[in-house]
Amino acid sequence: MPSPSSEVHSIDVSLGDRSYKIEIGTESIDTFSDSILASLGDLTHALVIADAAVENPWAMTIASSIAKQKTPSGDDIRVNLIAVPSGETSKSIGQLDTLWQWMLESSADRRSVVIAIGGGVIGDLAGFAAATFTRGIRFIQVPTTLLAMVDSSVGGKTGINLPTAKNMVGAFWQPSLVLIDTSVLSTLPDRSYISGLGEVVKYGVIDDAPFFEWLEANAGKLLDRDDNAVRYAIAESCRSKANVVGEDERETSGRRAILNYGHTFAHAIEATAGYGQVLHGEAVAIGMQMAAHLAIELELCDAELLKRQTALLKACGLPTTYAAADPDAMLPVMKRDKKVSHGNLRFVLPERIGSVTLLGDIKEPNVTKAILACC
Ligand SMILES: NC(=O)c1ccc[n+]([C@@H]2O[C@H](COP(=O)([O-])OP(=O)(O)OC[C@H]3O[C@@H](n4cnc5c(N)ncnc54)[C@H](O)[C@@H]3O)[C@@H](O)[C@H]2O)c1
Ligand SMILES: [Zn+2]
Repeated sequence: MPSPSSEVHSIDVSLGDRSYKIEIGTESIDTFSDSILASLGDLTHALVIADAAVENPWAMTIASSIAKQKTPSGDDIRVNLIAVPSGETSKSIGQLDTLWQWMLESSADRRSVVIAIGGGVIGDLAGFAAATFTRGIRFIQVPTTLLAMVDSSVGGKTGINLPTAKNMVGAFWQPSLVLIDTSVLSTLPDRSYISGLGEVVKYGVIDDAPFFEWLEANAGKLLDRDDNAVRYAIAESCRSKANVVGEDERETSGRRAILNYGHTFAHAIEATAGYGQVLHGEAVAIGMQMAAHLAIELELCDAELLKRQTALLKACGLPTTYAAADPDAMLPVMKRDKKVSHGNLRFVLPERIGSVTLLGDIKEPNVTKAILACC
């Protein structure tokens, strides 16, 4: 009987010559250097870029186990490690410049490989540094927050913020491998972990009714951070995201937009609350509630969907209402959303559990009503 920690989920992201694997285990960090060598046979130089909060022990453990490995010709593998200050403000041109200079000083070349260890901030920043250094070097994602494990580490969107515009500069740059060890979540605060569950529930609604049912039955285990349940939820989430990204890698066909379910409302909640007040996954949970209300109003789905979504979000410890929601403040933000074309309000709306549709030309009074329904 294998121990729970020996079970590793492996998921393929199929993108032609940019395809890669996502490996999800528990207490698997000691095997990361083997996985890295197996999938990037010619590794000679690793550039480990870590969030300062996970430098010790996670990033140092990975860096030292890579340093013990040899290249195929028996040479030592060079490893450089840099810690980046935690927080969204590190997704800046200043930090990017620091990384570029550090890569240069570390004698990085086109065969060097970036290993990003941290949450979405580090994945986006280090991924963009990899995308741009000598016009692009390989990189590996080692996500350490639940949000990064189920969302930001998969799909190849990298980038930084401008002072007044989030994610405004970046590149599509797929990782060569994504390595997930759920043990690193042990140091993640509850609020951040639960916020990540907001994105997990999202996948059930947009793409996967059986997974939604599994979540209804297993929300308690997820809240208790049961290893088997957490690995399964991450694996199913990554599978959904990989499928969507495989169909629309560069957000050109519209399919990838379904990943934004709840997000037009969520971005407006985050912006009007002041960034950091409401965590992203919490805002997504409330945003999905607003979207479901809007879908009922437009007769796209029945009230049963909202009832099940509400119950599941609550069972995951997520908010389902937001007393401070102010349509007059939120609507202007929604109209400026990158995904809105020429002021035409478009939303990803549920039709049934497991299926959503993208609808344009939504009238403002309907949006206002949906927001007020969640106050
Ligand atoms: N590229 C994409 O497709 C994509 C998708 C979604 C979000 N994002 C981006 O991701 C970012 C948000 O990601 P996030 O929520 O992971 O935030 P984050 O990277 O800021 O991490 C949240 C906090 O947790 C700390 N932390 C990380 N791992 C930890 C651990 N194991 N134990 C203890 N503390 C830990 C960090 O230091 C930070 O303070 C945003 O910048 C967002 O734009 C990108
Ligand atoms: Zn999100």
